[in-house]
Amino acid sequence: MLWLQSFSHAYPVLGGAYYLAGRAASDVKRRLAAQSAPAELARRVAIATYEVEMNICIHAISGEVLIVMEGERVDVVANDRGPGIPDVAQALTPGFSTAPEKARAMGFGAGLGFANMERCADEFRVSSQVGIGTKVEMAFLPRPDEGVKGASCAASGHH
Ligand SMILES: Nc1ncnc2c1ncn2[C@@H]1O[C@H](COP(=O)(O)OP(=O)(O)O)[C@@H](O)[C@H]1O
Ligand SMILES: [Mg+2]
Repeated sequence: MLWLQSFSHAYPVLGGAYYLAGRAASDVKRRLAAQSAPAELARRVAIATYEVEMNICIHAISGEVLIVMEGERVDVVANDRGPGIPDVAQALTPGFSTAPEKARAMGFGAGLGFANMERCADEFRVSSQVGIGTKVEMAFLPRPDEGVKGASCAASGHH
């Protein structure tokens, strides 16, 4: 059982500010590693957080990513002010992207961000209002194959 130290922080994200994006992802990854969370869980949280941060940076005006760690659960909620998503089902389709040329030139805009989030998160929900903004809610819990660090060593009788 993973007992995360309670933590809650909102990270601001500014549209177009690529050099600032990714802070929530690297911070949550560092915090999970420091608490000996399973590496695979930390990786899933970091990947999904990075994708949701980049989406605000690429597609919205401004927003924030809220990270809450409690017990064995990590919640990542992104809220932005921006154009919103007219057709969420279409946006979730792998390969679909409206990323502008500027983003593509930097290697973003493959249209796989939402697919990555869906794969990594244990709970995933997108809600959006056109002309107002988008909210992405994700939750992460240790999966059965993600043991607490060192657990598999102890169980196998080595060391
Ligand atoms: N925060 C957002 N605000 C507005 N549109 C968004 C947002 N996030 C995603 N989208 C829309 O969903 C599409 C798919 O997103 P994603 O799978 O991350 O691919 P990519 O970011 O590479 O385009 C985007 O191209 C965009 O049209
Ligand atoms: Mg994306």
